[in-house]
Amino acid sequence: MSGAAAALRGNRIAVYPGSFDPVTRGHEDLIRRSLAFVDRVVVAVAVNAAKQPLFTVEERLALLGEAVRGPGIEVQSFEGLLVNFARQVGAAVIVRGLRAVSDFEYEFQMALMNRHLDPKLETVFLVPAFDLTYLSSSLVREVARFGGDVSQLVHPAVHRALKAKFGT
Ligand code: PNS
Repeated sequence: MSGAAAALRGNRIAVYPGSFDPVTRGHEDLIRRSLAFVDRVVVAVAVNAAKQPLFTVEERLALLGEAVRGPGIEVQSFEGLLVNFARQVGAAVIVRGLRAVSDFEYEFQMALMNRHLDPKLETVFLVPAFDLTYLSSSLVREVARFGGDVSQLVHPAVHRALKAKFGT
């Protein structure tokens, strides 16, 4: 191993960006999987990504803090370009989840645009656990809005927050 590579051991950082409106068991799964190949994951809540979010940024950060706390995991919000935020936190890798073919086009476009903006930043796609592949924040919001049971799909703190939001 080169000196530079050795120096980097212990300090490999990934950024895992998204709206997290709200965080689901699928996101939690990917965050844990990321820690198999990096030392720190910075979960990055995009401030302007969703136009009409259900949860405020502060609420999303608090729910993430409850759902994914642990060694090597940090939660932050960011505004503006993801590549700038990644540079700021020293990340060499962007982690994104790929659930189905339908995700691919958008993710591919985003990965190439981010590479155009910062060629040194690599995007790594992770596949969630099979039983979580159908899960998305938007489906969770919709089911919870109409009183459906999402208790298996989100952390208990998120479940409580959804019930409080919708009065269900
Ligand atoms: O969970 P989402 O909503 O699919 O996440 C999308 C997100 C937040 C990763 C994306 O919109 C993003 O990176 N926004 C920050 C602004 C930016 O850098 N845009 C160019 C990306 S190609």
